[in-house]
Amino acid sequence: MIVITGASGQLGRLVIAELLKSVPASELVAAVRNPASVADLVAQGVEVRMADYNEPSTLTDAFAGADKVLLISSSEVGQRLPQHANVIDAAKRAGVGLLAYTSILRADTTPLPLGLEHKQTEQKLVESGIPHVILRNGWYSENYTASVPVALQFGAVMGCAGEGRISSAARADYAAAAAAVLLADDQAGRVYELAGDQSYSLSELASEIGAQSGQAVSYQNLPEAEYRQALVAAGLPEPIANLLAESDTGAAQGGLFDDGKQLSALIGRATTPIAESVRQVLAAG
Ligand SMILES: NC(=O)c1ccc[n+]([C@@H]2O[C@H](COP(=O)([O-])OP(=O)(O)OC[C@H]3O[C@@H](n4cnc5c(N)ncnc54)[C@H](OP(=O)(O)O)[C@@H]3O)[C@@H](O)[C@H]2O)c1
Repeated sequence: MIVITGASGQLGRLVIAELLKSVPASELVAAVRNPASVADLVAQGVEVRMADYNEPSTLTDAFAGADKVLLISSSEVGQRLPQHANVIDAAKRAGVGLLAYTSILRADTTPLPLGLEHKQTEQKLVESGIPHVILRNGWYSENYTASVPVALQFGAVMGCAGEGRISSAARADYAAAAAAVLLADDQAGRVYELAGDQSYSLSELASEIGAQSGQAVSYQNLPEAEYRQALVAAGLPEPIANLLAESDTGAAQGGLFDDGKQLSALIGRATTPIAESVRQVLAAG
């Protein structure tokens, strides 16, 4: 039996969809803090268990009988280490056979401040003694393509990544990798550095959006503080604006580049090119 935490989220839903191609729904458990949010999974025969990263007893119950657990990292940045520690401790109490964790590309050396909680979680995993596998996910292409409508509105992609190259992949590619690892044998002890097959700079992304839309779109590189201010002015909460700006600075330092192609090797196909992700957003209107 495989338990997927964060199953109500975007990645979790894609992982379950991917697993359902190979295993019966009766072998999957969606662990979520709000069971009402996944009625569609119940309708497909997936068991749903209540699991809140902040409430250890819910986690122990959710992991009962699990052969494998996928810990999808929490979206509550700043709270993640204690939350993930609760999950790891509960997995140990439940005697889980394999714990897979979605980390960040090169968690041990990344210049992105976001990486610290992942690095600490990985350390906690090692110390726990639980057989585990680490999926160090690179950037989702969706982090950038979500801003395509804004780029078209202003004729500009804004950022502070300079000429840093970004080896992103579609969220669905990372979900396929998680499913592949959960379905494979002999994964304990493995650490995967997962990223897209190709890389691009934000100038190249702007050109791609311009070429596909037929509109003039350029890249406007800003100092980090100005980019942060622009994001806040556009309505983003300050912590999110801060996180995006810091991550772009990390990208400028090479933190989102990788050419190891471990992701495509794991999923047995090429990763989704950024041009395709842009095309999908434009087609959706
Ligand atoms: N690699 C990247 O580019 C990238 C980008 C963004 C995020 N991430 C990381 O990858 C994770 C998965 O991405 P995503 O796109 O699926 O994010 P998402 O759609 O925001 O999903 C986050 C999931 O975490 C769950 N969660 C948050 N706090 C929780 C708690 N206290 N107890 C139990 N569950 C909790 C959410 O549950 P609810 O549905 O109840 O809110 C949701 O299921 C994120 O959480 C974040 O750590 C990576």
